[in-house]
Amino acid sequence: MSDTAIYPVPEEWARTAHVNRARYENACKAAETDPEGFWRGVAERLEWTAFPTRIKDVSFHKDDFRIRWFEDGILNVSVNCIDRHLPERRDDVAIIWEGDDPAESAAITYGELHAAVCRFANVLKKHGVNRGDRVTLYMPMIPEAAYAMLACARIGAVHSVVFGGFSPDSLAGRIEDCGSDFVITADEGLRGGKTIPLKANVDAALEKVSVRSVLVVRRTGADVAWVEGRDIDYGPEAASVEADCPPEPMGAEDPLFILYTSGSTGKPKGVLHTTGGYLVWAAWTHEVTFDYRPGQVFWCTADVGWVTGHSYLVYGPLANAATTVMFEGVPNYPDHSRFWQVVDKHRVEIFYTAPTALRALMREGDGPVKATSRSSLRLLGTVGEPINPEAWRWYHEVVGEGRCPIVDTWWQTETGGHLITPLPGSTDLKPGSATLPLPGIRLQIVDAEGHELTGPTEGNLCITDSWPGQMRTLYGDDQRFFDTYFSTYPGRYFTGDGCRRDADGYYWITGRVDDVINVSGHRMGTAEVESALVLHPYVAEAAVVGYPHDIKGQGIYAYVTLNAGVDAHDDLRAELIKHVRGEIGPIAAPDVIHWAPGLPKTRSGKIMRRILRKIAENELGALGDTSTLADPGVVDDLVKGRPA
Ligand code: WT7
Repeated sequence: MSDTAIYPVPEEWARTAHVNRARYENACKAAETDPEGFWRGVAERLEWTAFPTRIKDVSFHKDDFRIRWFEDGILNVSVNCIDRHLPERRDDVAIIWEGDDPAESAAITYGELHAAVCRFANVLKKHGVNRGDRVTLYMPMIPEAAYAMLACARIGAVHSVVFGGFSPDSLAGRIEDCGSDFVITADEGLRGGKTIPLKANVDAALEKVSVRSVLVVRRTGADVAWVEGRDIDYGPEAASVEADCPPEPMGAEDPLFILYTSGSTGKPKGVLHTTGGYLVWAAWTHEVTFDYRPGQVFWCTADVGWVTGHSYLVYGPLANAATTVMFEGVPNYPDHSRFWQVVDKHRVEIFYTAPTALRALMREGDGPVKATSRSSLRLLGTVGEPINPEAWRWYHEVVGEGRCPIVDTWWQTETGGHLITPLPGSTDLKPGSATLPLPGIRLQIVDAEGHELTGPTEGNLCITDSWPGQMRTLYGDDQRFFDTYFSTYPGRYFTGDGCRRDADGYYWITGRVDDVINVSGHRMGTAEVESALVLHPYVAEAAVVGYPHDIKGQGIYAYVTLNAGVDAHDDLRAELIKHVRGEIGPIAAPDVIHWAPGLPKTRSGKIMRRILRKIAENELGALGDTSTLADPGVVDDLVKGRPA
């Protein structure tokens, strides 16, 4: 992690990019001296039915807490992503869809997107979906996923996309939490040559919670169970409605979507984003971070089930009249060249992925990369977790052949879009650093007591003022929203991340400082995995921590105490892993199960996770003071019992 390795802005980028150094510095100054004017200017990129006169109304303090942007503005997100491009770009490609099978792909123009979204919207209306209703999407990576999101936006319904890898139980919990009574799914998904039983999972979820309707898009044509009166076949319905649907005029602060994410305690949180501020943020950051210009082919590999898929697969690119690639498959199917084959096939210019995918591909050597041309690539990006400098260099040298800048974008589900990122025409790069905040983003590093730390330092990352893309609340729980993000360090938004600032003012995210772990760029709450484990009849107690994992960044390490009389053996290990997959989904499956005769607890019964983390990291010399434990002997037992 040397601070001295610097990759300067290539001369051509400094000359041609939307944002060069001078423009970046001017924007930072403008955002500070005249914030209202600055953000008004950024909002002008959208098409508003009524342009807002009130720009910003924010307080992070308890007594007058509020976050409102462009409050009296009126607009529709689907109009901004589709209709307004039609006069100039009706025949331009909006979405390039690349199937799991390399023989399958499709190009959807803006004109076709308009018709498809309108039809989808009319089907929703025909089946009673109204403005403000919550609609749950449980979809594979097919164009209909984007149509469904945009159709909700068109009629003012609030979508909640649940990643197709989540279990029926997780899906049921999310349907229930937001009181959604309409689900959109597909018969099956297809990834890496394998099918995913989406409709069957929905049926299983609906044994726990009931909804009025399930709209089913046919992907594989598999024969699926059907509940008459509840299930609706999308194909015939779409053919029966008009290909035009008037957009609903929405207030800037009307909800656009809910997206569930894991927290450090309890059940997943329904992060709520609103219409105006979110779209301003997704569109602006997509343009400045990726230096996007219409006509370029942009590929974000994220699934629509995550915020990255919302902001940089669908909303940001489409608001900018981009050509966005949607990929149904996985990086290693049919072989490890697939990403780069797709880049060549569709002449992708900007490619955005997660460090975990790069590390997995790097392990296969340079051959699968070098077997392709990649001559269309001009910019690379990463997101989701810190990128280790080794993977950064491989990405830069092997994938980008030294000619493509890399934007390491730091942000969160809560932030709606990028907050800390290099701009390719303005920021010299340091491998492993997300570099500098965007204009208007006021970062603060604090110590445990909340004192601001200045200069080169390390501590907890806070943000002292709002930006348009900030989440507005947790669905149905304003109090939990305030408590989670604004009470630890009063008057500031606390990100949950640790962070270092170097002598050049560059930011280096060091990872979560709460009980959240980052597995392959996805957030997982340790408490959620623990709750799933203790649901198993043989488990008495469980404690879960993260540990460094070569590919995933962090792996899931579970200490499990079994009920008296139950034998610890490898079959039970496999069974517990399967159990967690069934309860939450494959992304929550523990990588290690460590049989724990007892857990290290303080005399008041609090589990000392610090010690568990050290044992998981195999840093046995750094266990620290164990004298405050109720029974210090448990630590020796755990050290002796480390799984091979
Ligand atoms: C957490 C947010 C943002 C979309 C994907 C994940 C970590 C994200 C970076 C980065 C270091 C990063 C942080 C953050 N993170 N991007 N470029 N460098 N860490 O969204 O599930 O909301 O997770 O991901 O720890 O808090 P998320």
